[in-house]
Amino acid sequence: MSVGDGSINPLTNREAVAFAPDVYWIGAMDPSLRTFDIILKTANGTSYNAYLIRGSEGIAIVDTVKEEFADEFFARLESVASYDEIKVIVLNHLEPDHSGALPQLMERAPHAQLYISQRATGMLKGLLKPRNGAFGYTTVLTGDQVSLGDRTLRFLHTPFLHWPDTQCTYLEEEQILFSGDVFGCHFCDRRLFNDKVGDFHFSFDYYYAHIMRPFKQHVLEALEIIEPLQLKVIAPTHGPILRDRPERYVKHYRELSTSSLSGDRGNGDKSLMIFYMSSYGNTARMAEAIAAGADEIKGVRVSLFDLEGGEVDPFVDLIEGADGLVFGSPTINGDAVKPVWDLLSSLVVINLRGKLGASFGSYGWSGEAPAMIEDRMRGLKMRVPLSNVRVKLIPSEEDLANCHDYGRSIGATLIGKPTENQVIEFADLI
Ligand SMILES: Cc1cc2nc3c(=O)[nH]c(=O)nc-3n(C[C@H](O)[C@H](O)[C@H](O)COP(=O)(O)O)c2cc1C
Ligand SMILES: [Fe+2]
Ligand SMILES: [Fe+2]
Repeated sequence: MSVGDGSINPLTNREAVAFAPDVYWIGAMDPSLRTFDIILKTANGTSYNAYLIRGSEGIAIVDTVKEEFADEFFARLESVASYDEIKVIVLNHLEPDHSGALPQLMERAPHAQLYISQRATGMLKGLLKPRNGAFGYTTVLTGDQVSLGDRTLRFLHTPFLHWPDTQCTYLEEEQILFSGDVFGCHFCDRRLFNDKVGDFHFSFDYYYAHIMRPFKQHVLEALEIIEPLQLKVIAPTHGPILRDRPERYVKHYRELSTSSLSGDRGNGDKSLMIFYMSSYGNTARMAEAIAAGADEIKGVRVSLFDLEGGEVDPFVDLIEGADGLVFGSPTINGDAVKPVWDLLSSLVVINLRGKLGASFGSYGWSGEAPAMIEDRMRGLKMRVPLSNVRVKLIPSEEDLANCHDYGRSIGATLIGKPTENQVIEFADLI
């Protein structure tokens, strides 16, 4: 065993690291990992953090490690405890990077009871069925607690951060929050603690952007129960243990989860964003006419972007704050053009459910692109109530007038007056 003063190197040493009285890190370091879960780059690897708490009436283990790192985890566990002392095993999240060593741990710890969230039960069977589907377990909700004698673990139900099963666990007496992937990041540093490791703020934000951001609403709900806690330490399942001013990370999560764009508009206007690509200018002219039409609708703020002139990431941020999205693409070889697909495929990190979608484009003979874009929008759970507008080759004045009307219809639908086109507004006649 070692104290968390940076004197131990977990890359070469397999001892537990204490960071509060009788509370230990017993995780594993994975410094050579470069890609995590397909979608995340990990420039300096990651860690799988697991924890051990000793109480007067037994030991609790919180989370385990990826299966291939089980030896390291068990060696650290054995450096401070024996298996028959373990009374409680908490799995805050069942993704294999944390449940990998669970089957072996359950076999080794005959007196242990497993505590998981209600939503984790199906996953437990799904993930561990080839090994052993017959674990006994107790499901817990916010407020439920388990005693280790002089120590109490209290559970917080924080679903969808970032899987349905996720929860956090709070050690009352030491004010330590075992937060699972929440407040975690892929940053492998043998110095273990946020006041000792290298600069990990990019990794922290990057992890949030790719893992937590699609679930912002759930993050805000979880913060409602995390913010009132007294926190001495946040102990996540990846990256540094946050013992120096942990409340900063909670505050940062709230900032990251609160949209600033709607604040910019301030007046309740709906934001409509039109993105297009055009080789000869045909789809571009349609885009301008649609934008002009939508702009006539009061309460709609229209923005127009040529995908050729932009980078994907800033557009993703803009789209997150938008209420309606319109994509224009010519049909090239029976498809929409690549920048449109690139942007659409980058939107998995944000929640698009319920945003209004529409599409348009110029074409030569078959004109598949707009319908394909609509299909993709529906797949992303957007609503697409108006069917697309297509123009064969160069738009005529009449075509442009139709596009203008289409823009008006989109704008009217966005503010909840979908029949406006058919209604003659007295103000329009003056
Ligand atoms: C390489 C190439 C492939 C094309 N493939 C198709 C096609 O599969 N189906 C179609 O309807 N039009 C096709 N077109 C025609 C374009 O969709 C048409 O020229 C359109 O007006 C271009 O609009 P833009 O000026 O907005 O790019 C193709 C054009 C080019 C240059
Ligand atoms: Fe995870
Ligand atoms: Fe994880």
